[in-house]
Amino acid sequence: MSAPKVVVTGASRGLGLAISRRLAASGFDVVAIARRDSTELAELRAVSAPGAVSFMPFDLSVISGLPELAKCVRTTHGAIFGLVNNAGIGTSGVLANMRDTEIEDLIRLNTVSPIILTKHLLRPMLAAGAGRIVNVASIIAFTGYSGLAAYAASKASLIGFTRSLAREVGRAGINVNAVAPGFIATDLTLDMGEAERDKIAQRSALRRLAEPDDVANAVAFLLGDGARNISGTVLTIDAGNTA
Ligand SMILES: NC(=O)c1ccc[n+]([C@@H]2O[C@H](COP(=O)([O-])OP(=O)(O)OC[C@H]3O[C@@H](n4cnc5c(N)ncnc54)[C@H](OP(=O)(O)O)[C@@H]3O)[C@@H](O)[C@H]2O)c1
Repeated sequence: MSAPKVVVTGASRGLGLAISRRLAASGFDVVAIARRDSTELAELRAVSAPGAVSFMPFDLSVISGLPELAKCVRTTHGAIFGLVNNAGIGTSGVLANMRDTEIEDLIRLNTVSPIILTKHLLRPMLAAGAGRIVNVASIIAFTGYSGLAAYAASKASLIGFTRSLAREVGRAGINVNAVAPGFIATDLTLDMGEAERDKIAQRSALRRLAEPDDVANAVAFLLGDGARNISGTVLTIDAGNTA
């Protein structure tokens, strides 16, 4: 039997790369999507079984191209078992000073793109009567954070999407969940200084920050058999920051 295939968006760096590594190690075949390949992703392909990890370059903010991307994924890889909507940007700024185009770009990539990509990859899952979708939200969706109002809106919308879609497709055997990471050191959070990171760690129950592998483990769990009766939920990975 062939390995279940999972599409991971934003798989070239940060959380998406960690998720791809963890899924490949857990016996999934990974279809990695990002605009550009990375050395780390190329290394993962090289150490994995032939075809177990593949890369498809695509700019997910080009909404009109998503139906064709989904078609290409299906024709190249066949049945898709899972989708991890991870790609996102973290544009920050005081709302009153943000450019309208920045807000539009943020919502397009973080909210509109995963919803439409899900729509197009959902159809074959519905036909197969099985599938898993994991959306990468953020604790900012429920805590809020000054300077991240538009970002928080994009992540909160993914949580509403998760819960409603779980209800819509549950009877077809498809589970839909979200993960909500706290602050994690990646390119997305490079702007944050050490003092601010320390403050977040000290405010967390475990007095440390969660790491990309912690998110990867949670995603692998939600895609695995152990989560077969979990749907419509949000799993927080923040070292107890919001406890
Ligand atoms: N880091 C955190 O503290 C944190 C906390 C909570 C939630 N999150 C969420 O976790 C997800 C991943 O974040 P991260 O920290 O891993 O960010 P990251 O290190 O900046 O990585 C972002 C990934 O998304 C890809 N990407 C960006 N724009 C894209 C586009 N237009 N089309 C296709 N791919 C695109 C990037 O590759 P290319 O640039 O090559 O396209 C890269 O692979 C995001 O949704 C973020 O909101 C992160």
